[in-house]
Amino acid sequence: MAGFDTVDVLSVHHWTDNLFSFKTSRDPGFRFKNGHFIMIGLEVEGRPLMRAYSIASPNHEDNLEFYSIKVADGPLTSRLQNIREGDQILISRKPTGTLVLDHLLPGRNLYLLSTGTGLAPFISIIQDPETYEQYDRVILTHGCRWVRELAYQSLINEELPNHEYLGELVREKLIYYPTVTREPFRNQGRLTELMDSGKLFADIGLPQPDLQNDRFMLCGSPSMLKDLTALLDRWGFQEARHGDQGHYVIERAFVEK
Ligand code: A2P
Repeated sequence: MAGFDTVDVLSVHHWTDNLFSFKTSRDPGFRFKNGHFIMIGLEVEGRPLMRAYSIASPNHEDNLEFYSIKVADGPLTSRLQNIREGDQILISRKPTGTLVLDHLLPGRNLYLLSTGTGLAPFISIIQDPETYEQYDRVILTHGCRWVRELAYQSLINEELPNHEYLGELVREKLIYYPTVTREPFRNQGRLTELMDSGKLFADIGLPQPDLQNDRFMLCGSPSMLKDLTALLDRWGFQEARHGDQGHYVIERAFVEK
């Protein structure tokens, strides 16, 4: 298809009725920064049907990984959820995005704040050795409605801490803070509430964030981004904009698919 490359689907994992992830081949010449997104899609009625997806795999891996919601009447995901190993999908050639380490001022603690499929870019970022070189603590939060939606737990809790190269850094620096809003769980409530009340920071044993030490990357629904940026702005943090580094960066989790 003109303007797009194709990649092979290598495996598909269905997490729930509404969430799945898949791995694809990667052209050796395809370069991206951890945290970037890319357009991917399918040919439908002779035309490319493309949507933005964060790349969930780190850029040192040979394959690409994507994490997606399934929307029953979504033009793309109603079809994409049926892909299988051996199928091909379309991919654009230009990865881009704001959730990259270079956009942030130097700091000590990096908060990766996500809800839903907004987790995807952070799965890449927590597998980047550079993240751990730049920060003393990396706090991965993931807010979901239901416990079963807390995807990638075995990667975060088991594989990465035992990883041959990253394991030691992950064990020393990565703090995982999942939270659920609609059923009982060890952490409960919206990230906005947990941050505003200070409970999140108390739970992980870190001080209330300050301008000197703390940096944030946000990825979630429009309303999550609105409320969390309002909170950060109220606390005096500034968004990185127009090529100037800041205290936080944001990206929409691309949900209407
Ligand atoms: P809640 O169950 O209270 O709506 P969604 O699937 O709707 O994107 O939600 C994913 C998670 O994000 C849910 O736990 C949801 O909580 C939470 N959430 C929704 N809106 C916001 C918001 N404005 N700020 C923080 N968290 C939110």
